[in-house]
Amino acid sequence: MNMFDLSGKKAIVTGACQGLGKSIAEGLAEAGAKVCIMDLNSECEKIAKDMSKDGKEFSGVVVNLLDREDLVKGFNDAVSKLGGLDILVNNAGMQVRGNAEEIELSRWDKLIELNVTSVFEMSQLAARHMISKGYGKIINVASMLSFFGGYVCSPYAASKGAVAQLTKAFSNEWAGKGINVNAIAPGYMDTPLNTAIINDPERNHEITLRIPAHRWGTPDDLKGTVVFLASKASDYVSGAIIPIDGGYLGR
Ligand SMILES: NC(=O)c1ccc[n+]([C@@H]2O[C@H](COP(=O)([O-])OP(=O)(O)OC[C@H]3O[C@@H](n4cnc5c(N)ncnc54)[C@H](O)[C@@H]3O)[C@@H](O)[C@H]2O)c1
Repeated sequence: MNMFDLSGKKAIVTGACQGLGKSIAEGLAEAGAKVCIMDLNSECEKIAKDMSKDGKEFSGVVVNLLDREDLVKGFNDAVSKLGGLDILVNNAGMQVRGNAEEIELSRWDKLIELNVTSVFEMSQLAARHMISKGYGKIINVASMLSFFGGYVCSPYAASKGAVAQLTKAFSNEWAGKGINVNAIAPGYMDTPLNTAIINDPERNHEITLRIPAHRWGTPDDLKGTVVFLASKASDYVSGAIIPIDGGYLGR
């Protein structure tokens, strides 16, 4: 028996038209899951179609997770396209950079709505489905800034601290009902979200020096841990925040 096999499982991944989410969605499909990507990108359905090759099955739902009604509609559309739900990956997130004393509250509000409130709402909707059948896997995307305060990105640090706490709080309520809730905490990943620091030679050098693996992570580095957390292999793992960081956190 392959305990990492996801054949027949149905998964939603938010924010999966690009970046880490796209790779997570691909990893789940490579393990056999049918995946619906939910994203703001108006090309979402076309992207899902393009990803559907070599027997992998993707569908797409265009949704604005900042709009609470649209989120509910998008969730219901995704579940009906999939024909059920076993796995939810709350990946969509955004960054706001700037000195804390200067950041406008409107930018704070938007980030908290996406990075925290939409995670709460999506998990709540998913849990209602999963509790009724006594089985489910919820995977949140935390960050190194779930552990550190970071620098000039205070709203993001606050939001990812909240994602880590929500992961534990959900696990406390739902693990006994058959739902495993865990988070991955990617380290420094070579993606567009980090263009500003990648292009800052001093910060880039400083960060690379501190990573024991001596390299930035790539979106593909997340696949194995996500498949583990989505599969039977992790049935007794819940409330954990797993760093995928080339050893950065232990330094
Ligand atoms: N890139 C990194 O180094 C890194 C490190 C740690 C954690 N993370 C986290 O990983 C997740 C993905 O990061 P990424 O670098 O791939 O980001 P990204 O900006 O490349 O992709 C984000 C995706 O979310 C979608 N999205 C944005 N706003 C949305 C909304 N309102 N409704 C629906 N979809 C929306 C975008 O269209 C996009 O497809 C985020 O939660 C981020 O905080 C990233």
